[in-house]
Amino acid sequence: TGQLDIPHPRRRLPVLGDVIGVNPRTPVQDSMRYAAELGPIFERKVLGTRFVLVSDPDIVAELGDETRFRKHLAPAVAALRGIAGDGLFTAYSEEPNWRRGHELLMPAFTKSAMRSYHETMVDVAGELTQHWDRRLEPTARVDVSTDMTKLTLETIGRAGFSYSFDSFERDRPHPFVEAMVRALSHAQLMASPIGRLTLGRRRSQHEADVAYLAEVVDEVIRSRRDSSEAPPEDLLELMLRAERENDPNRIDELAIRHQVITFLVAGHETTSGALSFALYYLSRHPEVLAEAQAEVDAVWGTERDHRPAYEQVAKLRYVRRILDESLRLWPTAPAYAREARRDTTLLGRHRMSEGDWMLVLIPALHRNPVWGPDPDRFDPDRFLPERVRTRPAHVYKPFGTGERACIGRQFALHEAVLVLGTVLHRYDIAGDPDYRLRVQERLTLMPTRFDVTLTRRP
Ligand code: HEM
Repeated sequence: TGQLDIPHPRRRLPVLGDVIGVNPRTPVQDSMRYAAELGPIFERKVLGTRFVLVSDPDIVAELGDETRFRKHLAPAVAALRGIAGDGLFTAYSEEPNWRRGHELLMPAFTKSAMRSYHETMVDVAGELTQHWDRRLEPTARVDVSTDMTKLTLETIGRAGFSYSFDSFERDRPHPFVEAMVRALSHAQLMASPIGRLTLGRRRSQHEADVAYLAEVVDEVIRSRRDSSEAPPEDLLELMLRAERENDPNRIDELAIRHQVITFLVAGHETTSGALSFALYYLSRHPEVLAEAQAEVDAVWGTERDHRPAYEQVAKLRYVRRILDESLRLWPTAPAYAREARRDTTLLGRHRMSEGDWMLVLIPALHRNPVWGPDPDRFDPDRFLPERVRTRPAHVYKPFGTGERACIGRQFALHEAVLVLGTVLHRYDIAGDPDYRLRVQERLTLMPTRFDVTLTRRP
């Protein structure tokens, strides 16, 4: 065994490292450019900090072997520990609260549990369309990411914690969203040695944001504890009941707070991005839009006020493929990190010591040549069942891998297909032909300044 030859950017400066032409505000898009140039494994080094980024399906498959590898907290994720502590997303796998939280909350995320969130999801989608309908004269121009974020925050607030952020009654985004976006951007800069240099004057803002997020979460929990009504069956109740009943998986007050903030953030930001990218591609591909609308009309009928039943969501197979393909091109949680549990050899020839880690660069994996000659092209038919069956495994990882994969996957998929279906059923959408996709990075990916013009369908 030996070592893989891991290429690095050509223009590497002494001491500083790979800083030419990169920006701490766009680490993912910079890395995507490097991957296109340097191939499916490469190294980035800045001021002595080293990252190895991979997008090779064979390496990704091996890193998914739970007996040899586990989740590593990449620097940007570790930087969130001050906010989310040992909550599910930021916990080290060996921390007891990870397994407790996982056991406690897993039953709320099975496929069958999704039925219980359905009515709430339909209600919130209805609030979005009411919000839009009020603005039609007879067309309306809407900022997609802002409104998708309102919708997804409202959905996780109500479905998970029976708490409303009154998202659609506000002109500006809820301050929770602004504080969260700044906090996520802060963590991203913390992970970059160059980014850290720019943080000094933002520290007090960050402290204020962290305090504010904790305050919102405490208010969510307090409003439940103070309520005299029978507790609703939701995520918070699962945790509070475990506390009352001395369940072996109960977690303490602080850990509950960490889970609430984890779910409020993880439960909306990435889904909002996924919906926004899907609407971006729909606005660019009229033939895809038309086919999707035809599908929704066929499954839901042409009564525009139709309230979709639970079973009528998963039947939108083409809409689901649009979402899958959007998450292929722009997986909104764009990387995950894996570390060796003990000394091991990768691909039979690359030694890794215990604790050595690599980042899976998901958008690059999703553009690997196994996807065909034109991987940047948006084509939902890549997800036709026969094509999925004949593709190698481990080339599509928008929800991560193994026991630390996304717990909210089914939740996100049900919500996103339902919302896309609702929007396509009710409106024709058109994008500005001059818009060029701009992707903002704040740990997650989000299209920015992207508007669509809506018209009611007959
Ligand atoms: C973990 C993606 C929606 C809750 C993850 C991971 C990815 C991911 C890649 C693994 C991260 C890692 O290995 O470090 C996404 C995407 C979503 C989405 C792309 C939407 C399209 C959701 C939703 C929820 C959620 C709706 C909750 C309702 C979580 C939690 C974890 C997680 C709690 C940590 C799980 C653990 O480590 O035990 N997600 N997610 N996510 N996600 Fe999601």
